[in-house]
Amino acid sequence: MTSEDYDGFRAFLEEACGIMLGDNKHYLVSSRLSPLLAEAGLPSLRELLVRLKIGTDVRLRDRVIDAMTTNETSWFRDGTVFELLKTVILPGLAKSRSARLRVWSAGCSTGQEPYSISMALHELVLLNPGKVAADVQIVATDISPSVLKQAESGIYDAAAMARGLTPERRSRFFTARGGQWEVNREVRQRVSFRELNLCQNFQALGKFDLIFCRNVLIYFSSSLKRDILTRIASLLLPDGYLILGSAESLANYSDAFDMLRFPEGIVYRLKRHPARVQHHHV
Ligand SMILES: C[S@@+](CC[C@H](N)C(=O)[O-])C[C@H]1O[C@@H](n2cnc3c(N)ncnc32)[C@H](O)[C@@H]1O
Repeated sequence: MTSEDYDGFRAFLEEACGIMLGDNKHYLVSSRLSPLLAEAGLPSLRELLVRLKIGTDVRLRDRVIDAMTTNETSWFRDGTVFELLKTVILPGLAKSRSARLRVWSAGCSTGQEPYSISMALHELVLLNPGKVAADVQIVATDISPSVLKQAESGIYDAAAMARGLTPERRSRFFTARGGQWEVNREVRQRVSFRELNLCQNFQALGKFDLIFCRNVLIYFSSSLKRDILTRIASLLLPDGYLILGSAESLANYSDAFDMLRFPEGIVYRLKRHPARVQHHHV
């Protein structure tokens, strides 16, 4: 791979999905793309780039994005945040809202995140019948069609099941089917999936009470992070919450949120009033 081809590919990827590759990820690019090149009968990255630039092969473009995105996830990832959801966020929202709650899982990968949110809600409702809103809609989106397909199927293999589920949750929320496990209807019914590139306009999703955007923005440039966070803030209802990954922070990227610290972790709440210049009369 020449450095010209590498740079060309980097530029394509950032333009297509926001993901920024460092200066020396040649190995990553070739290991992730070589099966795809072989399958498409393309001799090198240069030919792939030519095909991508022509722009007519949407499937090829999707497959390249699929190959280059990191879809690492697990059930109840950063578990304490889900406790916070049950003890603070959902009960608080239930008090202040009369309509159904809307939650967005942005960059949902293979579905563990939105399904975990739905399971946490289910547990909360069982513990507090009639006190918290059971009527919650969870919209889960990702740029990658292949992870969405897996997410929508609701079927997971033993390796996926081994990551993050207690035995109680496994038996309560899943049904075993020939060596695999299927998420039960009571969990699935609140979750809908759709393809969405965060670099593009997402206003049409409507307003949300709670947005999870975890372990997605880390791959993007600072300016793209700022842009996406501004647009995320504009979709939150008053006092709505944003949850980032446990290793992520909003520092320098957005001042639209108040940071709330709990023993279980950090969440961000949309500021009540935009910062206003105070006029002092002397
Ligand atoms: C590491 S996974 C995180 C999954 C989950 N949120 C979690 O924390 O476990 C990141 C996901 O972001 C998605 N992604 C990457 N770029 C994206 C973009 N531009 N728009 C939407 N999703 C994107 C990837 O396809 C991948 O599934």
